[in-house]
Amino acid sequence: MLIHKIEELRKQIKIWKKQGLTVGLVPTMGALHNGHLSLIKKSVEKCDKTVVSVFVNPIQFGPNEDLDKYPRTLDADRKLCEDAGVDIVFAPSPKEMYGEGHILSNDFLTYVVPPFFYVDKLCGKSRVGHFDGVCTVVNKLFNIVQPDFAFFGEKDRQQLIIIKKMIKDLNIPVEIIPCPIVREESGLALSSRNKYLTENGKIEALALNRILFNIKTCYNKGIKDVSALTETAYSFLNENHALEYLEFRDKDTLEEKKTADNNTIVFIAVKVENVRLIDNIEL
Ligand code: PAJ
Repeated sequence: MLIHKIEELRKQIKIWKKQGLTVGLVPTMGALHNGHLSLIKKSVEKCDKTVVSVFVNPIQFGPNEDLDKYPRTLDADRKLCEDAGVDIVFAPSPKEMYGEGHILSNDFLTYVVPPFFYVDKLCGKSRVGHFDGVCTVVNKLFNIVQPDFAFFGEKDRQQLIIIKKMIKDLNIPVEIIPCPIVREESGLALSSRNKYLTENGKIEALALNRILFNIKTCYNKGIKDVSALTETAYSFLNENHALEYLEFRDKDTLEEKKTADNNTIVFIAVKVENVRLIDNIEL
Protein backbone atom coordinates (compact mmCIF):
# COMPACT_ATOMS: atom_id res chain seq x y z
CA MET A 1 0.00 0.00 0.00
CA LEU A 2 1.34 3.44 -0.94
CA ILE A 3 0.55 6.24 1.52
CA HIS A 4 1.40 9.92 1.07
CA LYS A 5 -0.36 11.42 4.08
CA ILE A 6 0.76 11.31 7.72
CA GLU A 7 -2.78 11.04 9.10
CA GLU A 8 -3.61 8.08 6.88
CA LEU A 9 -0.46 6.30 8.00
CA ARG A 10 -1.19 7.01 11.67
CA LYS A 11 -4.65 5.44 11.32
CA GLN A 12 -3.16 2.23 9.97
CA ILE A 13 -0.45 2.13 12.64
CA LYS A 14 -3.09 2.55 15.35
CA ILE A 15 -4.99 -0.49 14.04
CA TRP A 16 -1.81 -2.60 14.06
CA LYS A 17 -0.87 -1.46 17.56
CA LYS A 18 -4.35 -2.34 18.83
CA GLN A 19 -3.87 -5.81 17.39
CA GLY A 20 -0.57 -6.10 19.27
CA LEU A 21 1.51 -6.37 16.09
CA THR A 22 5.17 -5.32 15.97
CA VAL A 23 6.14 -2.64 13.47
CA GLY A 24 9.48 -2.30 11.66
CA LEU A 25 10.56 0.93 9.95
CA VAL A 26 13.14 1.19 7.17
CA PRO A 27 13.85 4.88 6.49
CA THR A 28 15.18 5.55 2.96
CA MET A 29 15.49 8.27 0.37
CA GLY A 30 14.38 5.87 -2.37
CA ALA A 31 16.22 4.84 -5.55
CA LEU A 32 16.19 1.50 -3.79
CA HIS A 33 18.90 -1.08 -4.48
CA ASN A 34 20.00 -4.36 -2.93
CA GLY A 35 21.54 -2.52 0.03
CA HIS A 36 18.15 -1.11 0.96
CA LEU A 37 16.56 -4.47 0.14
CA SER A 38 18.72 -6.22 2.73
CA LEU A 39 17.31 -3.89 5.43
CA ILE A 40 13.77 -4.41 4.13
CA LYS A 41 14.14 -8.20 4.15
CA LYS A 42 15.42 -8.11 7.74
CA SER A 43 12.44 -6.06 8.82
CA VAL A 44 9.90 -8.26 7.01
CA GLU A 45 11.50 -11.30 8.66
CA LYS A 46 11.63 -9.83 12.17
CA CYS A 47 8.46 -7.73 12.40
CA ASP A 48 4.76 -8.43 11.88
CA LYS A 49 4.42 -5.28 9.76
CA THR A 50 6.99 -3.27 7.81
CA VAL A 51 6.86 0.37 6.76
CA VAL A 52 9.44 1.68 4.27
CA SER A 53 9.67 5.45 4.06
CA VAL A 54 10.77 6.97 0.77
CA PHE A 55 11.54 10.63 1.25
CA VAL A 56 14.33 12.72 -0.23
CA ASN A 57 14.75 14.86 2.84
CA PRO A 58 15.54 18.44 1.74
CA ILE A 59 16.89 19.56 5.12
CA GLN A 60 19.80 17.11 5.08
CA PHE A 61 21.21 18.47 1.80
CA GLY A 62 23.60 21.41 1.77
CA PRO A 63 23.07 24.34 -0.63
CA ASN A 64 25.63 22.96 -3.12
CA GLU A 65 24.61 19.32 -2.86
CA ASP A 66 22.58 17.06 -5.15
CA LEU A 67 19.01 17.56 -3.80
CA ASP A 68 17.55 18.39 -7.22
CA LYS A 69 19.32 15.67 -9.16
CA TYR A 70 19.00 12.96 -6.48
CA PRO A 71 17.39 9.96 -8.28
CA ARG A 72 13.64 9.60 -7.70
CA THR A 73 12.19 6.24 -8.80
CA LEU A 74 9.01 5.81 -6.74
CA ASP A 75 7.27 3.35 -9.11
CA ALA A 76 10.23 0.98 -9.12
CA ASP A 77 10.72 1.45 -5.36
CA ARG A 78 7.12 0.57 -4.70
CA LYS A 79 7.38 -2.57 -6.84
CA LEU A 80 10.56 -3.67 -5.05
CA CYS A 81 8.85 -3.15 -1.69
CA GLU A 82 5.69 -5.00 -2.70
CA ASP A 83 7.71 -7.96 -3.97
CA ALA A 84 9.64 -8.03 -0.67
CA GLY A 85 6.43 -8.17 1.40
CA VAL A 86 6.42 -4.59 2.69
CA ASP A 87 3.05 -3.54 4.10
CA ILE A 88 3.27 0.24 3.59
CA VAL A 89 5.47 2.49 1.48
CA PHE A 90 5.24 5.93 3.05
CA ALA A 91 6.18 8.60 0.50
CA PRO A 92 5.25 12.04 1.84
CA SER A 93 5.86 15.29 -0.03
CA PRO A 94 8.22 17.90 1.51
CA LYS A 95 5.09 19.98 2.18
CA GLU A 96 3.48 17.07 4.05
CA MET A 97 6.59 16.71 6.22
CA TYR A 98 7.54 20.35 6.71
CA GLY A 99 4.36 22.32 6.07
CA GLU A 100 3.24 25.06 3.73
CA GLY A 101 6.18 26.72 2.02
CA HIS A 102 8.23 24.12 3.89
CA ILE A 103 10.40 26.64 5.65
CA LEU A 104 13.61 24.76 6.17
CA SER A 105 15.72 27.09 8.27
CA ASN A 106 16.06 26.50 11.97
CA ASP A 107 14.66 29.99 12.51
CA PHE A 108 11.25 28.43 11.84
CA LEU A 109 11.58 24.68 12.28
CA THR A 110 12.32 22.67 15.43
CA TYR A 111 15.49 20.67 14.78
CA VAL A 112 17.00 17.70 16.57
CA VAL A 113 20.68 18.60 16.85
CA PRO A 114 23.12 15.76 17.58
CA PRO A 115 26.16 16.48 19.79
CA PHE A 116 29.01 18.50 18.30
CA PHE A 117 31.61 15.82 19.08
CA TYR A 118 29.79 13.40 16.77
CA VAL A 119 29.25 15.81 13.87
CA ASP A 120 32.44 17.88 13.67
CA LYS A 121 34.30 15.04 11.97
CA LEU A 122 34.13 12.64 9.00
CA CYS A 123 31.07 13.46 6.81
CA GLY A 124 29.82 16.12 9.23
CA LYS A 125 32.93 18.21 8.60
CA SER A 126 32.21 18.85 4.92
CA ARG A 127 28.42 18.45 5.22
CA VAL A 128 27.65 21.10 7.85
CA GLY A 129 24.10 20.68 9.21
CA HIS A 130 23.64 17.36 7.43
CA PHE A 131 23.17 15.29 10.58
CA ASP A 132 20.79 17.88 12.07
CA GLY A 133 18.60 17.24 9.02
CA VAL A 134 18.98 13.46 9.34
CA CYS A 135 18.18 13.38 13.08
CA THR A 136 15.22 15.72 12.62
CA VAL A 137 13.60 13.65 9.88
CA VAL A 138 14.35 10.32 11.55
CA ASN A 139 12.87 11.60 14.78
CA LYS A 140 9.76 12.75 12.89
CA LEU A 141 9.48 9.34 11.22
CA PHE A 142 9.81 7.63 14.61
CA ASN A 143 7.00 9.81 15.97
CA ILE A 144 4.77 9.15 12.97
CA VAL A 145 5.36 5.39 12.68
CA GLN A 146 6.20 4.54 16.32
CA PRO A 147 8.16 1.48 15.23
CA ASP A 148 9.35 -1.24 17.60
CA PHE A 149 12.42 -1.75 15.41
CA ALA A 150 14.19 0.52 12.91
CA PHE A 151 16.76 -0.72 10.42
CA PHE A 152 19.87 1.24 9.42
CA GLY A 153 22.82 0.26 7.22
CA GLU A 154 26.42 0.19 8.39
CA LYS A 155 27.23 1.78 5.02
CA ASP A 156 26.41 5.13 6.65
CA ARG A 157 28.23 4.27 9.85
CA GLN A 158 28.49 7.79 11.27
CA GLN A 159 24.73 8.21 10.71
CA LEU A 160 24.06 4.90 12.50
CA ILE A 161 26.23 5.88 15.48
CA ILE A 162 24.57 9.31 15.72
CA ILE A 163 21.07 7.83 15.54
CA LYS A 164 21.90 5.33 18.30
CA LYS A 165 23.15 8.24 20.40
CA MET A 166 19.94 10.20 19.72
CA ILE A 167 17.79 7.22 20.77
CA LYS A 168 19.72 6.93 24.01
CA ASP A 169 19.87 10.65 24.82
CA LEU A 170 16.19 11.28 24.02
CA ASN A 171 14.85 7.96 25.42
CA ILE A 172 13.14 7.08 22.17
CA PRO A 173 11.42 3.68 22.57
CA VAL A 174 12.76 1.94 19.46
CA GLU A 175 15.40 -0.74 18.94
CA ILE A 176 17.94 0.04 16.23
CA ILE A 177 18.97 -2.94 14.11
CA PRO A 178 22.28 -2.35 12.30
CA CYS A 179 22.64 -4.11 8.94
CA PRO A 180 25.94 -5.02 7.20
CA ILE A 181 27.17 -3.24 4.06
CA VAL A 182 25.97 -4.83 0.82
CA ARG A 183 28.57 -4.71 -1.97
CA GLU A 184 28.64 -5.41 -5.69
CA GLU A 185 30.66 -8.46 -6.69
CA SER A 186 33.49 -6.03 -7.46
CA GLY A 187 33.51 -4.95 -3.81
CA LEU A 188 31.98 -1.52 -4.48
CA ALA A 189 29.51 -0.63 -1.71
CA LEU A 190 26.04 -0.16 -3.19
CA SER A 191 24.83 3.44 -3.11
CA SER A 192 22.10 5.41 -4.88
CA ARG A 193 24.87 7.87 -5.84
CA ASN A 194 26.74 5.17 -7.83
CA LYS A 195 24.22 6.03 -10.59
CA TYR A 196 26.16 9.27 -11.18
CA LEU A 197 29.37 7.36 -12.08
CA THR A 198 30.50 6.39 -15.58
CA GLU A 199 31.78 2.84 -16.18
CA ASN A 200 35.31 4.12 -15.72
CA GLY A 201 34.29 6.00 -12.57
CA LYS A 202 32.93 2.76 -11.14
CA ILE A 203 36.34 1.14 -11.69
CA GLU A 204 38.13 4.08 -10.04
CA ALA A 205 35.62 3.83 -7.16
CA LEU A 206 36.94 0.37 -6.30
CA ALA A 207 39.89 2.11 -4.62
CA LEU A 208 37.74 2.74 -1.54
CA ASN A 209 37.00 -0.88 -0.68
CA ARG A 210 40.46 -2.01 -1.82
CA ILE A 211 42.07 0.43 0.60
CA LEU A 212 39.82 -0.75 3.45
CA PHE A 213 40.23 -4.47 2.85
CA ASN A 214 43.99 -4.03 2.45
CA ILE A 215 44.14 -2.17 5.76
CA LYS A 216 42.20 -5.00 7.40
CA THR A 217 44.62 -7.58 5.96
CA CYS A 218 47.61 -5.59 7.27
CA TYR A 219 45.90 -5.23 10.67
CA ASN A 220 45.25 -8.98 10.81
CA LYS A 221 48.95 -9.54 10.04
CA GLY A 222 49.82 -7.55 13.15
CA ILE A 223 50.26 -3.91 12.02
CA LYS A 224 48.40 -1.82 14.61
CA ASP A 225 50.04 1.59 14.21
CA VAL A 226 47.52 3.88 12.49
CA SER A 227 50.10 5.95 10.57
CA ALA A 228 51.65 2.76 9.18
CA LEU A 229 48.20 1.45 8.21
CA THR A 230 47.29 4.81 6.63
CA GLU A 231 50.50 4.69 4.51
CA THR A 232 49.26 1.50 2.82
CA ALA A 233 46.37 3.43 1.23
CA TYR A 234 48.30 5.74 -1.05
CA SER A 235 49.30 3.13 -3.67
CA PHE A 236 45.57 2.67 -4.47
CA LEU A 237 44.99 6.36 -5.22
CA ASN A 238 45.66 8.29 -8.45
CA GLU A 239 44.81 11.67 -9.98
CA ASN A 240 41.17 10.54 -10.44
CA HIS A 241 40.68 10.31 -6.68
CA ALA A 242 40.19 13.26 -4.32
CA LEU A 243 40.66 11.78 -0.85
CA GLU A 244 38.48 13.63 1.67
CA TYR A 245 39.32 11.55 4.72
CA LEU A 246 40.76 8.25 5.85
CA GLU A 247 40.31 7.97 9.59
CA PHE A 248 40.48 5.36 12.35
CA ARG A 249 37.85 5.89 15.03
CA ASP A 250 36.12 4.12 17.92
CA LYS A 251 33.03 2.23 16.80
CA ASP A 252 30.76 3.74 19.48
CA THR A 253 32.23 7.10 20.48
CA LEU A 254 33.97 8.14 17.22
CA GLU A 255 37.11 9.02 19.20
CA GLU A 256 40.27 8.99 17.11
CA LYS A 257 42.62 6.01 17.41
CA LYS A 258 46.41 6.18 17.19
CA THR A 259 46.65 2.42 17.62
CA ALA A 260 44.07 0.22 15.93
CA ASP A 261 42.17 -2.41 17.92
CA ASN A 262 39.06 -4.55 17.59
CA ASN A 263 36.79 -1.58 18.40
CA THR A 264 38.16 0.42 15.48
CA ILE A 265 36.28 1.42 12.36
CA VAL A 266 38.23 2.71 9.36
CA PHE A 267 36.25 5.41 7.57
CA ILE A 268 36.97 6.65 4.05
CA ALA A 269 35.45 9.31 1.76
CA VAL A 270 36.74 9.93 -1.76
CA LYS A 271 35.41 12.01 -4.62
CA VAL A 272 35.44 10.23 -7.99
CA GLU A 273 34.15 12.18 -11.01
CA ASN A 274 33.00 14.73 -8.44
CA VAL A 275 30.73 12.13 -6.81
CA ARG A 276 31.33 11.83 -3.09
CA LEU A 277 31.64 8.17 -2.11
CA ILE A 278 31.93 6.73 1.40
CA ASP A 279 32.79 3.34 2.80
CA ASN A 280 34.02 1.85 6.08
CA ILE A 281 35.26 -1.37 7.63
CA GLU A 282 35.36 -2.75 11.15
CA LEU A 283 38.75 -4.12 12.22
P1 PAJ B 1 19.53 6.27 2.08
O1 PAJ B 1 20.84 6.75 1.60
O2 PAJ B 1 18.46 6.01 1.09
O3 PAJ B 1 19.78 4.94 2.90
C1 PAJ B 1 18.73 4.30 3.58
C2 PAJ B 1 19.32 3.20 4.42
O4 PAJ B 1 19.91 2.21 3.59
C3 PAJ B 1 20.43 3.71 5.37
O5 PAJ B 1 20.27 3.12 6.64
C4 PAJ B 1 21.69 3.24 4.67
O6 PAJ B 1 22.78 3.03 5.55
C5 PAJ B 1 21.22 1.93 4.06
N1 PAJ B 1 22.11 1.54 2.95
C6 PAJ B 1 22.39 2.24 1.84
N2 PAJ B 1 23.30 1.57 1.08
C7 PAJ B 1 23.58 0.42 1.74
C8 PAJ B 1 24.44 -0.69 1.48
N3 PAJ B 1 25.20 -0.76 0.39
N4 PAJ B 1 24.48 -1.69 2.39
C9 PAJ B 1 23.71 -1.63 3.53
N5 PAJ B 1 22.89 -0.61 3.82
C10 PAJ B 1 22.82 0.40 2.94
O7 PAJ B 1 20.51 7.13 4.77
C11 PAJ B 1 19.55 7.71 4.29
O8 PAJ B 1 18.92 7.31 3.14
C12 PAJ B 1 18.92 8.95 4.93
O9 PAJ B 1 19.92 9.69 5.57
C13 PAJ B 1 17.77 8.63 5.90
C14 PAJ B 1 18.25 7.80 7.10
C15 PAJ B 1 16.63 7.91 5.18
C16 PAJ B 1 17.21 9.95 6.48
O10 PAJ B 1 16.73 10.77 5.48
